[in-house]
Amino acid sequence: MASKLLSPVPGIARTCMRTSRFIAPRAVAPLTQRRCISAYGYEQAKALTFSEYGEPPSVLSLHGHSISPPHGDKMTIRFLASPINPADINQIQGVYPSKPTFTTDLGTPNPIAVAGNEGVAEIIALGDKAKSAGYKKGDWVFMKGPGFGTWRTHASATVDQVVKLEDSMREGITALQAGTVSINPCTAYRMITDFTTLQPGEWFIQNGANSGVGRAAIQLGKKWGLKSINVIRSREDKAAEDKLKDDLRALGADIVITDAELQAQGIRDQAKEWTNGGREKIRLALNCVNGKAATAMAKLLSSSAHFVTYGAMSKQPLTIPASMLIFKDIHFHGFWVSRWAEKNPEDKIKTVNDVLDMTRNGEFKDTPFDQIKWEYETKGDELIAKVKDTLEGYREGKGVFVFGKT
Ligand SMILES: NC(=O)c1ccc[n+]([C@@H]2O[C@H](COP(=O)([O-])OP(=O)(O)OC[C@H]3O[C@@H](n4cnc5c(N)ncnc54)[C@H](OP(=O)(O)O)[C@@H]3O)[C@@H](O)[C@H]2O)c1
Repeated sequence: MASKLLSPVPGIARTCMRTSRFIAPRAVAPLTQRRCISAYGYEQAKALTFSEYGEPPSVLSLHGHSISPPHGDKMTIRFLASPINPADINQIQGVYPSKPTFTTDLGTPNPIAVAGNEGVAEIIALGDKAKSAGYKKGDWVFMKGPGFGTWRTHASATVDQVVKLEDSMREGITALQAGTVSINPCTAYRMITDFTTLQPGEWFIQNGANSGVGRAAIQLGKKWGLKSINVIRSREDKAAEDKLKDDLRALGADIVITDAELQAQGIRDQAKEWTNGGREKIRLALNCVNGKAATAMAKLLSSSAHFVTYGAMSKQPLTIPASMLIFKDIHFHGFWVSRWAEKNPEDKIKTVNDVLDMTRNGEFKDTPFDQIKWEYETKGDELIAKVKDTLEGYREGKGVFVFGKT
């Protein structure tokens, strides 16, 4: 906390709180370089917030506020890394089932919500009850459930809102890895293991294979001796498409095809070739796209296979011929990691720890990241422009806010 200034004048702290701008005592660095904290331990925070649902560039704004010193079971946390996931965008648009909390607690006349659902933060101050509950300064914590608001520099949390990442699990793990482990890798892990028991040598097929979930599924499948057919969207730039296919093969994908190749004639014969004349079964499909490409994927499944839908990137409905249910006995499921984690909190921790073990051992590679630096003086416009970028497809990396001197 060396970058923070202590102001002995309560009035200065109050001014800072109200305006989010630093009022410098005499003879200190320029305004944009430094920030303030009062002698009474008020923390200056900034958050990307919205007061109504809509498209992120129109409704998001950067809001400055102060956080009072924690007491009881409260803690003040400082975020280290928070990703921009598709669900975060849907939540801001108001089309996600889990709604954020709109509140005036952050000092606004009208209720606002903080965007973002995933991230890792460190505890920088805590009350006595939080200490007795086993937390200490410097611990890294995740949010227990969605809707907390992770696109912010600091927050006040209670012990029941967070889950601690045990010190032993932190070893060799970066904030970026910890901040992105709890949703996508967990989703891939549970979908591969919870709907059917695949035997080594058996296959699964998935679309959105270059997404965070898709890349996790490829690596977990490889580790568990499974084979995978991976569908990506075609690229106009064929060199970029080939490179993406190579990248996924390097992660452990057996087959990588485009959605156009999946829907082309002759794909069934091709799939037979890949699966040893059909003797190796394709018993699981993971779908986050829907539309025609998802239907085509279902057609490659073996009888009595499981088809799990967990996303809707194309915004198209999922259309399935009745014969697949009646004669082929394909089982269709949906999966939502938030609901699963709420029901299985212990398993969630085990799943996260398993993935972190694999990461530490070099068996689980990071998804490509587009790191968005967030310093105390970073302007709201810059952050919001980055959020807007993520609305475009064909990206090379997942946007993640990485917090510097906040
Ligand atoms: N149900 C759950 O519990 C759960 C948990 C985690 C994630 N998810 C869902 O899983 C999906 C992937 O999430 P993520 O965080 O892993 O994604 P991500 O890393 O941000 O990647 C986005 C993926 O979506 C694809 N995509 C974007 N626009 C598309 C479109 N119009 N049609 C088809 N594909 C499109 C991208 O392909 P291109 O590179 O071709 O653009 C890329 O593969 C999302 O739908 C997300 O909501 C669900």
